[in-house]
Amino acid sequence: MRIVLGVGGGIAAYKVASLLRLFTEAGHDVTVIPTEASTRFVGTATWEALSGNPVSNSVFDDVHLVNHVRLGHEADLVVVAPATADLLAKAATGQAGDLLTNTLLMAHGPVLFAPAMHTEMWQHAATRANVEILRTRGAAVLEPASGRLTGADSGPGRLPEPQVIFEAAMALVQGRSDYQLPLAGRTVTISAGGTREPLDPVRFLGNRSSGKQGVALAVAARNAGATVRLLAAHMEVPAPAGVEVQRVETALELREAALAAAAGSDVVIMSAAVADFRPAEVSDTKIKKRDDTADPVITLVRNPDILQELVEQRNGSRSGAGQLIVGFAAETGDSQGDVLAYAEAKLQRKGCDLLVVNHVGTDKVFGQDSNAVVILSRAGSEPQEASGTKTEVSEAIIRRISFELNRVSPRA
Ligand code: CTP
Repeated sequence: MRIVLGVGGGIAAYKVASLLRLFTEAGHDVTVIPTEASTRFVGTATWEALSGNPVSNSVFDDVHLVNHVRLGHEADLVVVAPATADLLAKAATGQAGDLLTNTLLMAHGPVLFAPAMHTEMWQHAATRANVEILRTRGAAVLEPASGRLTGADSGPGRLPEPQVIFEAAMALVQGRSDYQLPLAGRTVTISAGGTREPLDPVRFLGNRSSGKQGVALAVAARNAGATVRLLAAHMEVPAPAGVEVQRVETALELREAALAAAAGSDVVIMSAAVADFRPAEVSDTKIKKRDDTADPVITLVRNPDILQELVEQRNGSRSGAGQLIVGFAAETGDSQGDVLAYAEAKLQRKGCDLLVVNHVGTDKVFGQDSNAVVILSRAGSEPQEASGTKTEVSEAIIRRISFELNRVSPRA
């Protein structure tokens, strides 16, 4: 496929090198057209080297090739990233001052804009109107991601991750209407791993959670276009790229981080294995074995139920309306009831919207790469089964979450 990759003059231009890589590695022939302003951020040599094609931003280079007509005509897809407020305005008003804007006017195939700018620019009535015009004319304009921007500010306006733009571009050329990723513009907080409750400076009570499921969920949410905050307790796997990571150790630290992060999130997923109890006392010094005293007895106290508190916080705040809260449960059946009956009771007790239930045998879930779950909904729909690798299960969970979220709180 022939792709024209227009690069706008924003700091996020450097991220477009990864996007270009994704296109070329997938076998596509990419011509990069950087705007004049963008070459202040990334020079043309970078684009030439990575694309293997000559790069120009002037209609007066290689005039005999009539590039300002040819490139747009021949392209199967035009992607503009970062699409600055200025570029969106030029495209909406049909200006043709340089090679990129000429190409946009000549494009026959689908056109995808991946915006990046400060939140106020994105939300300004002028930009809103320009985006509306472009969408009405059939161009695809992605929602920017939310998060830290160039300065101290944060909010919607970040360039979506290269993988997200790539997926959207592929969906667009396949004529799929879901190129706008289901969680685009949404913020998802995910807790992962197992908490560690200290006994003394060198010892802790922990659990066997590997964090694999939580990390797979973070990747699936990120690839669905969400801005992801990963609250990482102890994990055996690295945190993925393209998500904000906050490290936590204990249940109390996780509680504080989760309640704070949830306040600005559309979705909260509690996949961490939270210790239900912690040692009542933490020794400042290492507990020694001594012959002259009795062996120590550890007294435990209950940790707060974070999931339940998240539900209470959501229900008590007006801004939380429409937030989706998802819990996890590892259950075993016994003579008193089966797994689903126990899970159903837990769902009602905790008050979350969805509960993802793992049926645990002796060694079935922790640290394994595959998984089988049942998703229960408090709204009462049929239990949904999902199985496969942790990646596949996570994608199924994220699809279900997107569906529920877009149902209870449609995108503005
Ligand atoms: N959870 C939590 N805070 C805790 C304990 C658990 O937020 N103190 C969350 C987990 O992250 C998970 C869900 O609650 O999403 C279910 O955890 P689980 O340990 O299975 O439930 P419990 O309420 O501890 O039930 P029980 O131990 O009785 O099975």
